[in-house]
Amino acid sequence: RIVYVNGEFLPEEEAKVSIFDRGFLMADGVYEVTSVLDGKLVDYDGHLTRLERSLAELDMPEPDGMDALLEIHRELVSRNNLKEGCVYLQITRGPADRDFLYPETPKPTLVLFTLAMTLRRSPKAEKGLRVISIDDLRWGRRDIKTVQLLYPSMGKMMAKHAGADDAWMVENGHVTEGTSNNAYIVTQDGTIVTRQLSHDILHGITRAAVLRFAREAQIKVEERPFTLDEAKAASEAFITSATTFVTGVVEIDGVQLGDGTPGPVSRRLREIYLEEAA
Ligand code: PDD
Repeated sequence: RIVYVNGEFLPEEEAKVSIFDRGFLMADGVYEVTSVLDGKLVDYDGHLTRLERSLAELDMPEPDGMDALLEIHRELVSRNNLKEGCVYLQITRGPADRDFLYPETPKPTLVLFTLAMTLRRSPKAEKGLRVISIDDLRWGRRDIKTVQLLYPSMGKMMAKHAGADDAWMVENGHVTEGTSNNAYIVTQDGTIVTRQLSHDILHGITRAAVLRFAREAQIKVEERPFTLDEAKAASEAFITSATTFVTGVVEIDGVQLGDGTPGPVSRRLREIYLEEAA
């Protein structure tokens, strides 16, 4: 596989980042995941806009190569002959002697690589996901897409140990989001409910597109917090992210939703998303 590191395309074995990199020592970095379908990037502009916002929120300077980012994405997809999967991008504040204070003249690190994945015809999307609920123990700026992913990793492991596919995180009785996706329910009267944007959740690029498509399809949308009990009593539930698009949730903490298969609203939105966004 060919990867990109600080201005160079290299075989992955030859790519190097300093052990003093603040991404490694302090999780001082941000990332984006852009999906690729039929060799094309999905919603690149949305991901770039969010990346710029993440950098600004952390006072992190833009690395060299930032103005050529789209070409770098395309070049990597082409060199790896990637048809379906994603491009992972990470920017860290770069190498510096270990210090909590930011370095005065940072040299940010820019890394990109591709991952081949089956996205469109994913078996998980066909069957639907089983989720468990866990406390949301993350920090208070979840709107910044940082590489601090330890708690989401723990959450996925808790789900795995419980025989489930993923975890929904709960704070003050209300669902925030999934470990790596935004969370939605569909009420018995057909309204989509998902938490409103704030510092509490990541502002999903897929979320923005899916809510727009839902409104265009005359489906009612409410952006507000919902409780776990509300979710368990919902007619259906689903998640969105760059790598799952719209994927139905069929069970929450062992409580089956609907007939135990992905519901009609989530199936329809997945179809619309794959037609319109891809
Ligand atoms: N995760 N919420 C969280 C906590 C996420 O990590 C993600 C994305 C999302 C959905 O955002 P988007 O629609 O822009 O992908 C919501 C990526 C895919 C990941 O970490 O692999």
